[in-house]
Amino acid sequence: MKLSTLFILYFFTVSTLANASLKIGYYHSSCPNAESIVRKAVNKAVSRNPGLGAGIIRMHFHDCFVRGCDASILLDPTPGNPTEKEHPANNPSLRGYEVIDEAKIELESICPETVSCSDIIAFAARDSAFKLGGIRYSVPSGRRDGRVSIKDEPTANLPPSTLNAGELEENFAKKGLSLDEMVTLSGAHSIGRSHCSSFSDRLYSFNSTHPQDPSMDPKLAQQLIKRCPRPSTTDPIAPLDVDTPNRLDNKYYLNLKNKRGVLTSDQTLWNSPSTARMARSNAIHGANWAHKFADAMVKMGSIEVMTGIQGEIRKNCRVVN
Ligand code: HEM
Ligand SMILES: *[C@@H]1O[C@H](CO)[C@@H](O)[C@H](O)[C@H]1NC(C)=O
Repeated sequence: MKLSTLFILYFFTVSTLANASLKIGYYHSSCPNAESIVRKAVNKAVSRNPGLGAGIIRMHFHDCFVRGCDASILLDPTPGNPTEKEHPANNPSLRGYEVIDEAKIELESICPETVSCSDIIAFAARDSAFKLGGIRYSVPSGRRDGRVSIKDEPTANLPPSTLNAGELEENFAKKGLSLDEMVTLSGAHSIGRSHCSSFSDRLYSFNSTHPQDPSMDPKLAQQLIKRCPRPSTTDPIAPLDVDTPNRLDNKYYLNLKNKRGVLTSDQTLWNSPSTARMARSNAIHGANWAHKFADAMVKMGSIEVMTGIQGEIRKNCRVVN
């Protein structure tokens, strides 16, 4: 064998080992029922309240974009250590924590200290996408849980709803996600809800001469104004997709076509030259969008993961061991 071939083999082996990666069916022998236990908890919760499915899909996003998919989103604050879940991007809007707790408690009783909280979130997001959208995919697993969560970190990592297409592209690129993946994942806004504070600038303070954002359908603006009286101490909620708030599908992109995207970051996808073609394609080809959505969820689920002997398997998802 030539020396150069040996070197190539050497580097291939070493880099593969160094990047111990996620595997489909990781718990096949260590905890065969791991995925079905999570699915049962999700199905029960989402049947009662479909909004929890939306919350869990968003939880996976907010976990993975901050310190990677390490369940840092789940850690409760301790005295002197405020955590991610207290950041305004998560508190009070992020929901579904109890569903993860329930699955974890059951998992600890049958396979103690085996299934990570970060994998539970990834499985639960997949199960929510199936329950609400019939979207089916396998989740590679073997993530380990982090031991750190810092309240301020979402600020630099999670995109605010006021961003334009170029800024959103940049934000996702920092996590290794493409422009098309950003447009595709935004389709998650075909379910769930938003607090008025996330879009009230579009109703009341667009600019000094036009209070209302001209890129929003005036009929939708009137409906939202009724739900969201001028910024006040209360912060009501409105569905992100008025027509089918509990159905994860590509109707979201048709809403954008009709100027009925609720957030600035939604409507910009239809109106910006860099993303318009992708948004239009997703509006037309529902099955293709669903397929791309599944692939992009898997990719998002692999951002900066810890594996092997890194991190830990938490016993309680809310506290480090
Ligand atoms: C593209 C950049 C994104 C921005 C700017 C954004 C922003 C937001 C905002 C402001 C809300 C409403 C929060 C509230 O006020 O209650 C929301 C809700 C939601 N987001 Fe996103 N998001 C983005 C991407 C994503 C991604 C990638 C996913 C998942 C794949 C996602 C899933 C959701 C879901 C499901 C909801 C509804 C949550 C519920 O009903 O509890 N979002 N998002
Ligand atoms: C306000 O927005 C409207 C509609 O986009 C635009 O025509 C107008 O020039 C803007 N005015 C200012 C002061 O920016």
